[in-house]
Amino acid sequence: MSKIIVEKVTQTFGIDSGSSLKVLDDINLEIESSSFNVIVGTSGCGKSTLLKMMAGLFLPTEGRICLDGNEIKGTDRRRGMVFQQDAVFPWMTVAKNISYGPRIRGASRAECAEIEKKWIELVGLKGFESSWPRELSGGMRKRVDLGRVYANDPDVLLMDEPFGALDVQTKERMQAELLNLWEITKKTVVFVTHDLEEAIFLADRVIVMSARPGRIRHVEEISLPRPRTSETRLTEELLSIKRKLWSMLEH
Ligand SMILES: Nc1ncnc2c1ncn2[C@@H]1O[C@H](COP(=O)(O)OP(=O)(O)OP(=O)(O)O)[C@@H](O)[C@H]1O
Ligand SMILES: [Mg+2]
Repeated sequence: MSKIIVEKVTQTFGIDSGSSLKVLDDINLEIESSSFNVIVGTSGCGKSTLLKMMAGLFLPTEGRICLDGNEIKGTDRRRGMVFQQDAVFPWMTVAKNISYGPRIRGASRAECAEIEKKWIELVGLKGFESSWPRELSGGMRKRVDLGRVYANDPDVLLMDEPFGALDVQTKERMQAELLNLWEITKKTVVFVTHDLEEAIFLADRVIVMSARPGRIRHVEEISLPRPRTSETRLTEELLSIKRKLWSMLEH
C-alpha cells in the first residue's frame, strides 16, 4: 500500500515577511496505490510546491498530506524525488551514483554490487558502469538519476519535469522506459509536467491545476490501453483528450 491523501492543503509563502503569497488553495486529492498520476498546470500554479510537500521538504500552511494514514512531516526514503536538473554526483561513477543510497545506509559491498547490476541494466546503462557523469549525455544522466532513486526502493516516486530538458526523441524513449519500470515495480507515481501529450501518454489520471492560487480544476481518468506504444501517441483518443485538457489550461 502507498496511498497518498492530500487534505484541504493550502500553502502561503512569506507570512512572516508581511508580503504573503498564496500559492495553493484548498487542494484535495486521493492518489491511489500503484497508480500513475500526472499534474499539469501553467507555470507558477504551485505544482512543484505540491510535490515538495509530498516529499516532506516542508509542511503545508493548512491541511495535511498523508501516506497510508500517516502524516508526511519530513523526507523519507520511502518517497523518492526526481528533479528537473539531475542530481547525480559528478565525483562518483555511474555505478557508485546508483548504489549511493543503499551504501550510506550500510549495505554490504556485495549488496551494492547486486543493486548496481540490477538498476544499471534496467535503466539501460550497461557498459557505462565506470563512466563519470561528465562523460554522459543529458538523457544518460537522467537514467542515472532514475536508477539512483529506484535503487532506494521507494514506495512513491515524485518526479518534477524530469524529462523537461531532453530533446523530443530522448524524451519519448525515457517515457517509454519509465512506463516499463512502472509496470515492473508498480510504485505509486506523481509526475509533474508542462507537456500535455507526455501527461496523457503516461498517466492513469491527469490532474489539471488552475493558475495561482493553484486549485484542482479537473481530474481526467485516462483509459488508453496499456502497454502504451508510439502508436498510442497517434490515436484519435489521445488527441481528443489533449484538445479537451488544452482548453482547460490558462495560457
Ligand atoms: N520557497 C518559496 N518561497 C517563496 N515563494 C515561493 C517559494 N517556492 C515557490 N514560491 C512561489 O510559489 C509560486 C509557485 O511556485 P512553483 O514552483 O510551485 O510553481 P510551478 O507550478 O512548479 O511552476 P513551473 O511550472 O514554472 O515549475 C511561484 O510564484 C513561486 O515564486
Ligand atoms: Mg515547477
